[in-house]
Amino acid sequence: MSRLKDKVALVVGASSGIGRATAKLFAAEGSKVVLGARRDTELQSLVAEIEAAGGFAVALAGDVRSEAYAKALVDLAVARFGRLDIAFNNAGTLGETGTSTDVSEGGWSDTLAINLTGSFLGAKHQIAQMLKNGGGSVIFTSTFVGHSFAFPGVAAYAASKSGLIGLTQALAAEFGPQNVRVNAVLPGAVDTDMYRDMNDTAESQAFVTNLHALKRVATPDELARAVLYFASDDSAFVTGTASLVDGGASITRT
Ligand SMILES: NC(=O)c1ccc[n+]([C@@H]2O[C@H](COP(=O)([O-])OP(=O)(O)OC[C@H]3O[C@@H](n4cnc5c(N)ncnc54)[C@H](OP(=O)(O)O)[C@@H]3O)[C@@H](O)[C@H]2O)c1
Repeated sequence: MSRLKDKVALVVGASSGIGRATAKLFAAEGSKVVLGARRDTELQSLVAEIEAAGGFAVALAGDVRSEAYAKALVDLAVARFGRLDIAFNNAGTLGETGTSTDVSEGGWSDTLAINLTGSFLGAKHQIAQMLKNGGGSVIFTSTFVGHSFAFPGVAAYAASKSGLIGLTQALAAEFGPQNVRVNAVLPGAVDTDMYRDMNDTAESQAFVTNLHALKRVATPDELARAVLYFASDDSAFVTGTASLVDGGASITRT
């Protein structure tokens, strides 16, 4: 398959989970990929895996709270591969959880800094580059939490992730005339480190599984395929959307 033939894609939050699976799928679909996250060892092993499969990848470790890092990732894409067509802003943290009356100002701010501001800073520099090469596709990872499902104890996470939906709409309206599409993917539960950290008992996993009409959680590969749709020309007329990929959690009441 080559749905991303000759494209250059940046995947932020590529060291594990959804981002890792998406970077591999993008590369398998013909895209050259630039990988970002904090854990360099994981990024370098993914580069090696993609190259061993015949693809092209480069990684730069850093923290999405830094605007200099957002710019450096774009600069790396241009220096190594000449352009930037696709950016998947997927880095995220559950942040400080617990009863909201006990959440610290620092925990709240840090969650927003990673999930919301980090994604904005990424998009700011990615779109500036995409405008130079005729457009592109920006994708954010939001979540069903705070959109179609509310859990107690995750106010900062829910607020930061639903903020991404407003950001998606604003950027889509602002840059649509210049052929930059912007969409948000809203996963239900996905079997990743984040999910397992949050749901570390059989009871908790059974509870979360039951929230979905499909009565299971997603694999990272299933999310990657949804992200590929937004990255590719299959979604050429789709922008400004908040797209649930949630196994039917939004229509389930049992
Ligand atoms: N799993 C779910 O059920 C679920 C559901 C809905 C939405 N999501 C969202 O999906 C996205 C991916 O999560 P995942 O489930 O795949 O979990 P994950 O494996 O923990 O992935 C999180 C990714 O974000 C990166 N990251 C976190 N903080 C960062 C920072 N400050 N700077 C740079 N990178 C950072 C991590 O890399 P490093 O640790 O190496 O920095 C990692 O690559 C997140 O935005 C999450 O909120 C997940």
